[in-house]
Amino acid sequence: MCGIIGVTGNKRSVSILINGLKRLEYRGYDSAGIYVNDMNGHDYLIKRKGRISNLEAAINDNVNGMSGIGHTRWATHGEPNEVNAHPQYSADERFYLVHNGVIENFKQLKQEYLQDVHFKSQTDTEVVVQLVDRFVTKYQMDTKTALLKVLRLINPDSSYAFAMMDREQADTIYVAKNKSPLLIGLADGYNMVGSDAMSMIDETNKFMEIDDHELVIVKPDHVSIESFDSNEKHRKPFTVDMDASATDKGPYPFYMLKEIDEQSSVMRKLVQHYLPDGDPVIDDDLLAAMMKADHLYIIGAGTSYHAGLAGQRIFEALTGIHTSVHISSEFAYEHPLLSEHPFFIFLSQSGETADSREVLVQVNKHKWPSLTITNVDKSTLSREADYTLLIDAGPEIAVASTKAYTAQIAVEAILAKALGQKKEISAAEKFPLKSELSNIANGIQAITDGKDKIAAIAAHYLAKPRNAFYIGRGVDWSVALEAALKLKEISYVQSEGFASGELKHGTIALIENHTPVIGIITQDRTAGLTRSNLEETQSRGAAILTIVSRHLSMDDDTIIIPDVNELLTPLISIVPAQLLAYYTSLGKGLDVDKPRNLAKSVTVQ
Ligand code: AGP
Repeated sequence: MCGIIGVTGNKRSVSILINGLKRLEYRGYDSAGIYVNDMNGHDYLIKRKGRISNLEAAINDNVNGMSGIGHTRWATHGEPNEVNAHPQYSADERFYLVHNGVIENFKQLKQEYLQDVHFKSQTDTEVVVQLVDRFVTKYQMDTKTALLKVLRLINPDSSYAFAMMDREQADTIYVAKNKSPLLIGLADGYNMVGSDAMSMIDETNKFMEIDDHELVIVKPDHVSIESFDSNEKHRKPFTVDMDASATDKGPYPFYMLKEIDEQSSVMRKLVQHYLPDGDPVIDDDLLAAMMKADHLYIIGAGTSYHAGLAGQRIFEALTGIHTSVHISSEFAYEHPLLSEHPFFIFLSQSGETADSREVLVQVNKHKWPSLTITNVDKSTLSREADYTLLIDAGPEIAVASTKAYTAQIAVEAILAKALGQKKEISAAEKFPLKSELSNIANGIQAITDGKDKIAAIAAHYLAKPRNAFYIGRGVDWSVALEAALKLKEISYVQSEGFASGELKHGTIALIENHTPVIGIITQDRTAGLTRSNLEETQSRGAAILTIVSRHLSMDDDTIIIPDVNELLTPLISIVPAQLLAYYTSLGKGLDVDKPRNLAKSVTVQ
């Protein structure tokens, strides 16, 4: 988490930095700051607690610079306040540093080298910038040598993306990374650094990758790259086609509602992209690599993990290959006995999740084949996996993931059909995916068109309770997990997704008068059982609600959703749950898009 932006050259830096920070606010929003230098002997450091708007309000017309660095923070070390906000700076106010990540051995470094230094902040970052200053002032190293020495002293398990400025070389930004994302942006007469391409897209669409353990020196007209052991590197820039206007909120009060509404058009776009004539258009090399697999391991976190659960049964049904789904932060440190020919599928909207990347690093060490299914082309997980499939969802800005979930499941289904067809599995050959996805696009639209009714249900049932449950069986349970995550993360209602048959084995003790229990019912085999489980909670005072496929519906069901193929019901049953979460949060007057304590891109382990 945390967003970094920097610029040096022939343009006024303040507005570029603020614009970049606004585009990066999804990465963290508890405090923000900039350091700018006018390359004429004047410099400015401004930091504020809270949102970028607070920082922007604190910058007056006198603040001018041609170079600068900026940061929006998601706190790891030290509470969110102005002192702990970045840039952190050295005691003599010569060096300024912004950082995303965690320095694992910062306490040891402080103890060993900086016992006599007075620290202003509680951050691990300040140790790094004070240490650079120590090596420059006490041991007369030049800035680059001092920074390289510090980088070599940082424990390799640490994660960092750094941008550092030295007021005595005001046109230069020193950049380094390990595990955390960072990109160089190349423009005409000025160059940039940023946590992602979107943060620089208003200035340039030409970028250069940085690998782990590289030091990059960014000047207005030149960028040099070298490894920590001082080998010069040459790298070709690449361009990114990105529509910056796609990040506009338009008439919507919050991005989340816009993104929920966009799901029907994302489905249609995926059909055009991957299924123009009905047969999936998927890279032959990818399919050939997957043909050798005896087990598919799907890896993800949060919503992406839930999208994997929905995909698991599609892969097994259409390809006949055993498929398992794993939470990345667990799999990285304790995984099951692996099969002889594993194939790894990484699901990640951002393509930057540190927990998932940790698994990919290990997978690459073993040279196991891998695919990333992501929304962000050239993201870290996309670059480092053998293959990438894009989910074409357009930028997802709200912290609560919605359209990425449905798009990930749709791409899993497309891939499963392609692989199944290659294996000549008749279930895959017969599966009418193109028409099903088109049908689903219409179904999603019908649900979002009826959002007023869902808003009223949220106001009636979910505004007051502290606890709520989503329940279901099989794939409906996997949707219950995602539905509960949506509700808890933006409305702060303590909500759990539960296997409906499991409630009576303990959790039913939590049911009180008016506790909402929402049943998801889309599968013929288990519909009756889930209804019985709902009734068991109703007998104990619960307020029961249902999200039910039309052909299984009864008179007093709460929300009836269009019928779709049983393998694909998560694409449609999640939509009312997304809207229930949205309207509950809205009704409480919360910031729907930026819930407390969270960030969109989780780049620390
Ligand atoms: C869900 O609403 C969250 N934004 C979160 O669970 C997210 O899905 C998770 O952090 C994984 O992110 P990724 O898909 O970008 O890897």
